[in-house]
Amino acid sequence: MSDKPDRNLAMELVRVTEAAALSAAHHMGMGDKEAGDQAAVDSMRAVLDTISMDGTVVIGEGEKDEAPMLYNGEKVGSGSPPAVDVAVDPVEGTRLLALGRPNATSVIAISERDSMWKPGSSLYMKKIVVDRNAKHAIDISLSTTTNLHRIAGALGRQVHELTVFVLDKPRHKELIAEIRQAGARISIQTDGDVVGALMAAIPGTGVDILMGTGGTPEGIIAAAAVKALNGGMQAMCDPQSDAEREKVMAELGDDFDKTLTLNDLIKCEDAFFAATGITDGPFLEGVHYDRQGGVTTHSIVIRALSGSMRYIKGVHQLRRGLDLRRLDVREAVEVATL
Ligand code: FBP
Repeated sequence: MSDKPDRNLAMELVRVTEAAALSAAHHMGMGDKEAGDQAAVDSMRAVLDTISMDGTVVIGEGEKDEAPMLYNGEKVGSGSPPAVDVAVDPVEGTRLLALGRPNATSVIAISERDSMWKPGSSLYMKKIVVDRNAKHAIDISLSTTTNLHRIAGALGRQVHELTVFVLDKPRHKELIAEIRQAGARISIQTDGDVVGALMAAIPGTGVDILMGTGGTPEGIIAAAAVKALNGGMQAMCDPQSDAEREKVMAELGDDFDKTLTLNDLIKCEDAFFAATGITDGPFLEGVHYDRQGGVTTHSIVIRALSGSMRYIKGVHQLRRGLDLRRLDVREAVEVATL
């Protein structure tokens, strides 16, 4: 048994996000964020434990006391090598799922043990993400306008030909004003900056740059994907409350306002990232039910070492008697692991 993650892990991870997406999908539009998330957490955990690995959840659903499943520090997998760090977001975009909006996605990232940046008390970070062609042009310590001009130069385009993904949050009022002033186009989305980062890191998706402040856990998951895609990403802690600021400053000291590069966020050369769409989006289609009793999932899996990116369409046949519109956790796991 290798003590390094091997390529087979990639397919196993798709099963994990497929199971989470399958069990979360029927919560679409039901208005209940927690129910969809809980279903996805339970399925994800059940499939994770079927994988040959000694995993520790580094980015999970909060601390042990607040979340019964997939808490930070939880052991997942069979316990045999390889030893890995695991970052999960069973539903990235819980509100998107609850409201039936595009881009709710189930995501997971895995890298070698102790290679993921530990967020500690950091809840929010400022991020910038671009594809491989612009990765040397970004500098998060410089102004938005300067970054836009440098990125445009690296891509051989004009600023007005760029599209920037920004979360629709009051904290981004000035950022959005500056991007508009510089002349770039903006895709303003309520949630889901992991998908925004993926789109920015993959050339030709219609999004060229992700900018702005989002969740720190989402930033580390995105970093695994961006690293695998050989894209560019920088981040910086950006506390949104005095309490968060005090705690993060105490934990990080002088590193508090340091630029975090991809190599800080993921300190190894091999990492895996998988995502399955729950609701339809421009990047990944969601879970679809067909009239013949089948269900289709759409996933992406990326490995840093090889740089290979696979889009996987899973056409799952359900055994007789399963109600495909209400798969419970056991059934979703059965479908994803067959
Ligand atoms: P959830 O899936 O936890 O709801 O996160 C969605 C999300 O939009 C992330 O994509 C983003 O990083 C974060 O929330 C931003 O947090 P906030 O909504 O508090 O600004």
